Amino acid sequence: KKIADIINNFGIKSSIASRQGGDEFVLFLYGYDSEEELMKAIETLQYIQSNSKATLEKGLTVPLRFSLGYAIAKEDYEIEKFDKCSVEFSQTNKKTALTWISYFPYIETFANLMPIVLLVVGGLFIMNGQLTMGEYVAFSSLIWAVQNPMRMLGNIMNEFQRFSAASEKVMEIYYSEPKIVDKPEALDLPRRFRGKVEFKNVSFQYEDGNMPVLHNISFVANPGETIAIMGETGCGKTSLIQLIPRFYEPTEGEVLVDDINVNDMKLTQLRKNIGLATQDVLLYSDTIDGNIAYGDSSLTKEEVEKFAKYSAAAKFITKMPEGYDTIVGERGVGLSGGQKQRISLARALAVKPAILILDDTTSAVDMETEKQIQHSLNELDFPCTKIIIAQRISTTKFADKILIIQDGRISESGTHEELVAKKGYYHSLVQLQTGEEV
Ligand code: GTP
Ligand code: MG
Repeated sequence: KKIADIINNFGIKSSIASRQGGDEFVLFLYGYDSEEELMKAIETLQYIQSNSKATLEKGLTVPLRFSLGYAIAKEDYEIEKFDKCSVEFSQTNKKTALTWISYFPYIETFANLMPIVLLVVGGLFIMNGQLTMGEYVAFSSLIWAVQNPMRMLGNIMNEFQRFSAASEKVMEIYYSEPKIVDKPEALDLPRRFRGKVEFKNVSFQYEDGNMPVLHNISFVANPGETIAIMGETGCGKTSLIQLIPRFYEPTEGEVLVDDINVNDMKLTQLRKNIGLATQDVLLYSDTIDGNIAYGDSSLTKEEVEKFAKYSAAAKFITKMPEGYDTIVGERGVGLSGGQKQRISLARALAVKPAILILDDTTSAVDMETEKQIQHSLNELDFPCTKIIIAQRISTTKFADKILIIQDGRISESGTHEELVAKKGYYHSLVQLQTGEEV
């Protein structure tokens, strides 16, 4: 089992870096809102560490070994909390050991006294003629034969308890049901979508959140159009686009694709039509070729290369020692943020989606590369509606419509020219990024 899978199955939000040695890993935890959550995650990790084994590629099974990396400014505070936790952990262990020590001598003494009792009582019986020597020997050797299995039973009970504690967790994950599923009367739409996306008065709140992150969002993206979404960090851009493939459902309003509510579609058919490059790029432990062709394994080598070219990745891929066969991801070669983004873009394009969603996909590439990507996105050989989240004006400038999100609301929308003329948030962005008065 892959290490990442094991750890992710426990709901730990982390990224994993492999150390050169191979079987030791550094974990970086991220995305925890409170210290309690983080400490809980660390406790779970300690549990995994002591109870799980990972199968390496060579088929070897090794105990999971990893170090926890912290990158939080509140180091002292965290160290203190961690120390407290470690002390508690060690105290619990000591307590267990003490309990064991205080009973162990009595049990052992008692157990070892038994043969003497046997000898004395048996001897007396023989002397009184109540027992023959043969009976005594048979009896005592039977006792010896039973003794070991009895001891083993104790150990097995111990193991069994650990097993049931661990299996409970596995069962919980194994039998967990996704909340978002096809409706029984879901429409059957086995065709390629035209790619119209419409939000109708959509409001959205995360189930575990305490207030809505999107308020009354309405807009239309017609087939083939490019919609750019901009806004400060945390304003709700990612939340918004996640409603299109129905990763979440709006609390109010409707999300329509081709004029049909996404809730009424079959999930597989909806998602087949959507190419999504997420903000946190996830590459699988596979070759670059395998990563790009992930959504469509029937892709030919030529097509994979074509999509790599579209996403301006072809150049750096061919420079790698093994080209498209280079293994990337968890245990593969390290790639830069921009390189990963380009592979993930190629992967999103490779399904030739009717709707392409890019969440900050060119944030880590240089201006020149970005320009190339922009150019090829305009030249795609299949019809495609593009919804692009970006920070740079150079990316969004040529969009058919730009949406500015502020605190979960659309505060401005229109073309580049219209928004510049409005002299609002977008206008100030343009000034900031171009350094000129416009
Ligand atoms: P950047 O990617 O940083 O530019 O931000 P964004 O505009 O994509 O923001 P995003 O949609 O990720 O988050 C909007 C708000 O929702 C923020 O206040 C987040 O804290 C909150 N949020 C994001 N994901 C979750 C989640 O899974 N659960 C809860 N409860 N809140 C979330
Ligand atoms: Mg985001």
